Parts: sequence; structure tokens; C-alpha cells
Amino acid sequence: MKKIWLIPAVVLCALLSYTAFAPSRELSPRAQPPSFGAQSSVLAVHALDGGLALTPPMGWYPWNIFGEEPQNEKLIKEIVDALVSTGLKEAGYAFVGPDEGICFYRQADGRLTTNLERYPGGLRGLGDYIHQKGLKYALYTDAGTLTCSTAMPGTKDHEFEDMRQFAEWRADYIKIDWCNTEGQDIVKTYTTLHEAQHAAGRPVVHSLCSWGEGYPWQWAAAVGHLWRTTSDICGPGQADWSQAMKMAWANEKLSAFAGPGHWNDPDMMIAGMPGMSESQDRSFFSLWCMMAAPLIAGNDLRSMSKATIETLTNLEAIGVDQDPLGIQGKIVWTDGTISLWAGKPLFDGSRAILVFNQGRHPAQKRVAWSEIGVDAAAACYVRNVWTHETSGPLTGGVTVSVAPVDVAMLRVSAKNDFPLPPIIVADSYLVSLRATGATPQMLTGAITITNKGSAELPPWKVGDGLPAWLSVTVKKNGKIQTFINTISTAGLKKGLYHAVVRADNTELVSGKPMSALYYDVDLELTRDVSGKLR
Ligand code: GLA
Repeated sequence: MKKIWLIPAVVLCALLSYTAFAPSRELSPRAQPPSFGAQSSVLAVHALDGGLALTPPMGWYPWNIFGEEPQNEKLIKEIVDALVSTGLKEAGYAFVGPDEGICFYRQADGRLTTNLERYPGGLRGLGDYIHQKGLKYALYTDAGTLTCSTAMPGTKDHEFEDMRQFAEWRADYIKIDWCNTEGQDIVKTYTTLHEAQHAAGRPVVHSLCSWGEGYPWQWAAAVGHLWRTTSDICGPGQADWSQAMKMAWANEKLSAFAGPGHWNDPDMMIAGMPGMSESQDRSFFSLWCMMAAPLIAGNDLRSMSKATIETLTNLEAIGVDQDPLGIQGKIVWTDGTISLWAGKPLFDGSRAILVFNQGRHPAQKRVAWSEIGVDAAAACYVRNVWTHETSGPLTGGVTVSVAPVDVAMLRVSAKNDFPLPPIIVADSYLVSLRATGATPQMLTGAITITNKGSAELPPWKVGDGLPAWLSVTVKKNGKIQTFINTISTAGLKKGLYHAVVRADNTELVSGKPMSALYYDVDLELTRDVSGKLR
């Protein structure tokens, strides 16, 4: 449903690893984190200012399945449509856009310009398409002189103008790679890029991509929202299970460094890619959810099996990833074949645990409450996140059977109630209004925000600082909240007007802030409007 309505009474006219370094793509022993159990030494978490990415970003990026060559506007739009039609959007996946898809050139005057052969509607046009679908726009660049394939210019010595251009294209998420950066200081470079993003004035999720080089977990929370901890998880087109397991084990050791607004990123997902079985998909997805990893799908969404869709949209698993406490789970026991992942308390007082069997034979594992931080005498209910069954109350622990290369992912709680944290879905992130008259008008456009979780959310609070021509009210109807944007054209000159609306909310059970909600409002006036509204 379109989100722009007319209100006849008032509207005269509503046209209104710590691992590797990209070149070798190998695990590197020299990039060990200094102290696995240490608390994060990060002093400042800039992300909290903008309220962005307070839970791990969810979305889709092209690199894992496509690599560079087939990326173009048609492909990205098809993927955007598939995000909607397959239900992934309804499960919370939001950030989408081209990766190293030869999207732009640098002109002689130094400015970036869209590669119109591949993106004939322009990069701003692609952003509008994505926003109108209720999704968020992700773009890619590099901190060096050129991107990794050398097909696109990097931001070196153009940081401020490039981030301004990304803001003009209306990017909400920028992944910044670390190729062709010889001689550059990594902390200084990403700090400059962060300052450039701030100066550009558009709230943007900053995804650092140095594959663990420079130990970003030690410092990047002050300048970004997520950082790659590992080398690429696969070459384009084909999943690499053993590489993915190395990534998981490397990333697991960094759990102390992750939290709301600052995440370890073990790379885009391989679930649903060629080479993956159904149980590998489930295991992989469970590991990423237990690690509070960004859930950036990397498969071809236009041709997914029903099983892959069910895996990627399992809200009970996604709820573990998107938990408002933002704690990264870790391995608390392993015999080399079977591992027990825990250390992930959830917002409602329950705990997520994962038993992962990497062996070739079925396995049984007794999980004692004492192993997962629960009082040994406690009577607990156990929710199986994949079978959607609850058992209990059980005292002492639970015994689970796990098929080869499969998982048992559970929530353990004193209550027989397993609420889902809020999962936010928008019908649009863009309100576009146009007025042609010379007399004052009131125009109205609405966007609808739905909470797919089971936990209640109070009404969103709209931030201060809206321009005088715009006012926003929020109406709540259960899980659905409608933002009504009312525009008065009185006294405005002919031209284009733009505002970014911010709204904030708090998850009531945990008392934790929700990621801030941002959307764009565009107003076009084709004539000067004089006088006052009657
Ligand atoms: C690096 C990144 C990948 C992808 C490619 C594009 O390898 O790690 O995720 O963005 O560059 O060239």
C-alpha cells in the first residue's frame, strides 16, 4: 500500500582476527587479538550519539554470490523486490545496495558521479527506489586510492567530498574497504572518514572493512558501527564451509568487544549459497545469531529454496541476534567436534544457548545449568528455536541430541514465555510531496512502522529540529505505528525542500534504547506560495 494520502478537508492539492588481509585471503597468525577475555578498551562509542545500529544491522549485500561483474541497477532492484516478496524484509532485513559494483567514477573536478551505464536511474534514483520499498540504502567504497578490484575510485584525499556525495545519494550505510591503502594509518584514515560522515550531516551506519587488519575491535567503536574481523568468507559464487568455520572461531574470541552500536562482523552470510546443505544453513545462521553478528545475507534472493527462506526468516533465531542487550555469545565448552555456545543473556532474563555438532555422527550433549550460568537447582523451561517447541520445567540441565553438522539452538528461562524483541519493519522510508498551487496548502504523507516482535513498544518520539514547514505526529494502533507528516506550504518559495526525521524509542522490558528510526521527507513546490493558510 502506498503511504501518501490526501486529507480532503485541508488539502487543496496533494501532488504533493583477527585474521587475514585481503590480498592473501589467508588466516594470518600475526593478527591475534591481544587478550581474548579482556573487556573492550574502547572509551567512546560514537554510534550511541546517532542511535544507529543498536542491534546488529540486517540486510543483503551482493559480493558473496555475485562478485563485481553482474552488479547493476536491474539486478539490485530485482534483489530489492525479492527482499520484499520472499518475506525477508518482514523479518527485519533492511540494508541493501551495490557492493563493488562499479557504481561511480571520479570526474575531472574531483566529484563522484554515477556510472550511468550500469545505473541509468542514477545512484540517488536507486536510493529512492530502495527507500520507497521500506528498505535502507547501502553503498560501498574504499579508504585507499582505489577499491579492491581497482575498478572504482577510493576516498583517499577526497574523504569529505565523497561522504557529501554519498549523503546526496542518500546512503544510510557505507561499507568502507581497506584495499590500496599503502602507507596510510588505519586509525587516522577511518577517523577522518567518520568526521567526513558527520560533516556530511546524514546519519549513516559506518561499516569498516579491514578484515581484522589494525585490530579494529580495539578502537573502531569510536568511529564506526561494525568492523570486519576476518578475511572474505568465500570467493564470489560458492560457499566455503571450512573457511566460514575459521571465521566463526576467529570472531568468537572477540566477544568482549561487541555491543550495541559496535559490532564484530565475521562477514556476510553464506546461508543459501551453492555448496550449503539445509543443516549447514541452519548451523551457520545459528552461529551468526549467537555471535550477535550483522545478518547481511549474501545469497541470490531471487532463487531461494523454501528451506532457505524459512531459515533466514526464523524470527525466533533473529530475535536472539537482535536482542536489545546486544551481547555476543561465545564457546563455553568444546571437545573439538561438539561445542556449547552460551554467555548470551537476553532482554527478558532468558538465555540463548547453542549446541553445535561438527562431526559426522549424531551426538548427545548434556548441558548442565551450571555451565550456562544458571542456578543448578533452578527449574527452567527450554524453548527450541528451530522446532518451536517448549519443554520443562527441567532442573539441573537439559540433554540434547544433535544430528551431524547441525545445531540445537535453545532459550532457557524461568518462565514459560519466550517473547521476541522488537523487530522493526517500515512500509516506506521516504515521504514525497509536491504542490503546484500558489495558494497555501496543507499536504499530508504517512509512513507505517510495524513491530514484528512480541514485546510492546510505546509510541515513537519524534526528535526536535524539524523545519518550520513540517510537523509529525505518531498514532499507535497495537504493533503498528503511523507517522503522519503534515506540511504547510504557506510562505515557501518555489524549490525543493528536504528533511530527515528522527524518532526514538525504548524497549520496555530491558529499558534499552531502540535504534533510532530515520526517514526522508521531500517537498517540491513548483511556484512561490504567498500568504497564510486560512
Ligand atoms: C573486499 C571485501 C569484500 C568485497 C570486496 C569487493 O574483499 O572484503 O567484502 O567488498 O572487497 O572487491
